[in-house]
Amino acid sequence: MPSELPSPPATLQVQQRASLREYNTFGLPALAATLVHITSEADVRRVVDHPQYGLARKFILGGGSNVVLTRDIDAVVLKIEIPGLRVVDETAQGWVIEAGAGESWHGAVAWSIDHGIPGLENLALIPGSMGASPVQNIGAYGVELKDRFHSLDAVDLITGRSVTLGAAECRFGYRDSVFKHSGFGGLAGKSVITRVRMFCAKPWQPVLGYLDIERRMAETGIRTPDARTVFEWICAIRRAKLPDPAVIGNAGSFFKNPVVTPEQCKDIIGRDPEIVHYPMPDGSVKLAAGWLIDACGWKGKSVGRAGVYDKQALVLVNRGGASGAEVVTLARAIQESVYGRFGIRLEPEPIIV
Ligand code: EPU
Repeated sequence: MPSELPSPPATLQVQQRASLREYNTFGLPALAATLVHITSEADVRRVVDHPQYGLARKFILGGGSNVVLTRDIDAVVLKIEIPGLRVVDETAQGWVIEAGAGESWHGAVAWSIDHGIPGLENLALIPGSMGASPVQNIGAYGVELKDRFHSLDAVDLITGRSVTLGAAECRFGYRDSVFKHSGFGGLAGKSVITRVRMFCAKPWQPVLGYLDIERRMAETGIRTPDARTVFEWICAIRRAKLPDPAVIGNAGSFFKNPVVTPEQCKDIIGRDPEIVHYPMPDGSVKLAAGWLIDACGWKGKSVGRAGVYDKQALVLVNRGGASGAEVVTLARAIQESVYGRFGIRLEPEPIIV
């Protein structure tokens, strides 16, 4: 008897010609030829074993807060929706929190604060999903994910095998990790992050050395805020200067803050003494990309229906009905003017598809 190919398991939820507009925080129009909702590790293995999807190219979509979609996607889109939030360990040293990759990052931060676990508060209100947080090594207000990272589980898209990776294997850098690189040793598009674990150390040490936080401390007279207070301050600070993607489409900071040598920085300061810059531990200097873009006069400007947010020049926004191409055209125009004036090439933070 001829052997039959196994039919797709009933539990694999698949949509054909699915709109991705609701699934990217920029609200850009694009279609996925095939979209598979991944709600468990087993779903990833079902995709790997599937007669068509197994060998097809894959595109992994988390919260869609770090992509600019400029075209329809013919790769099989894996929409990661794995749920779950729990404390997996508590010792005298701290807590280990585990989250399914489909949980919202901010939801997990709020959950940890509600459960009396301090440590993630500076990372409140960062858009996107738990599974995307290590890809980007998200960071804000003096804390990066890598500072609270414990480990993650991922499933290999070729073998279907599960692996657990520690921080060293994730090769975290500034808004960077092994999951952003597709060359030799890189894991971009090769494995699906299914669970992420964070470590929140005891005793809690608040990170308060950021200008906006110091300002809140001075305004309120609270010198020793608890984690919930810091959480609420961060939410208020972000709401005041960053657009809510539910209201105005955006992908957070559009460019990375460029890092230059001290000599380059000296040269730029000579010409523009007010430039905002931060010395780094290794002797290099990080420049505020928002300041560079602002200095070139871009704040509030638009190209077509894509624009530069009027309260923070580092954030590009969809003013309503923008296409990915318009966003990319605007980004290129900004890159050219910053290069023309400062000789610095800005590197986009989101992945342009
Ligand atoms: N600035 C301007 N004009 C602007 C924007 C900024 O002059 O239009 C100046 C500010 O006055 C400030 C400096 O640039 O002196 C830095 O601005 P800000 O404090 O807003 O931080 P950022 O460097 O622009 C980074 C992260 C944000 C994170 C904040 C807070 C990157 C690419 N961005 O922004 O992360 O929330 O610090 O820690 O590193 C994200 O990655 O999506 C993101 C929002």
